[in-house]
Amino acid sequence: MVTVRAAITDGDARACAAVYAPYVTDTAVTFESQPPTAAEMAERIAAAAHRHAWLVLEDNGRVVGFAYAGPYKLRPAYRWACEVSVNLERGRRRTGGGRLLYEALLARLAERSFRTAVAGMTLPNDASAGLHRALGFEAVGTYRRIGWKHGRWHDVAWVQRALGATRTHRSSRAEGCLRAPPDEADRQ
Ligand SMILES: CC(C)(COP(=O)(O)OP(=O)(O)OC[C@H]1O[C@@H](n2cnc3c(N)ncnc32)[C@H](O)[C@@H]1OP(=O)(O)O)[C@@H](O)C(=O)NCCC(=O)NCCS
Repeated sequence: MVTVRAAITDGDARACAAVYAPYVTDTAVTFESQPPTAAEMAERIAAAAHRHAWLVLEDNGRVVGFAYAGPYKLRPAYRWACEVSVNLERGRRRTGGGRLLYEALLARLAERSFRTAVAGMTLPNDASAGLHRALGFEAVGTYRRIGWKHGRWHDVAWVQRALGATRTHRSSRAEGCLRAPPDEADRQ
């Protein structure tokens, strides 16, 4: 059975590190050059879980993918925007795992009062482009020759999607989240 849940254990960190490592070493899907250790992954999970979310996809008890969000930029006006990412173990494609993870992630981010999700993808990446399109992300634009990895330049396309407008002042404060953003009428 395939399920999505929040990452919680050191085992989850090890599994996420294992899923992610080949994308670091063998591809330009990510611009990192050294795979994070399990301990570094545990730190990333804790940071994401605190303000955003880090979810794992389990198939019969084995973690086979993950999706998470973090800040888009640190300047305060960006505080209701977040950057999302998703990775499944290599070879697991088009079986609904990406959609399951993203639907749960985007719902969680909306609950936590975030208003916009953005994602960047190294081109070409038909699966990522298709997944984001299927989940309602719109194209923003493409940075040309923005990343150098494995001996060549890469373009990165950015997409964005609005998140549900939920006002969760009390519950979100209890969880260490953002206060809900102002209504349209409050904005200058
Ligand atoms: C991107 C990724 C998460 C997609 O996950 P997935 O489980 O293969 O995707 P899903 O099966 O959930 O597909 C959901 C929808 O996305 C679209 N999609 C998925 N793969 C696609 C492809 N190769 N081409 C076009 N559209 C695709 C389809 O609309 C699909 O819906 P459908 O199957 O009903 O037509 C996965 O391929 C992956 O981990 N890739 C490597 C890491 C990566 O590139 N991460 C993204 C970084 S930006």
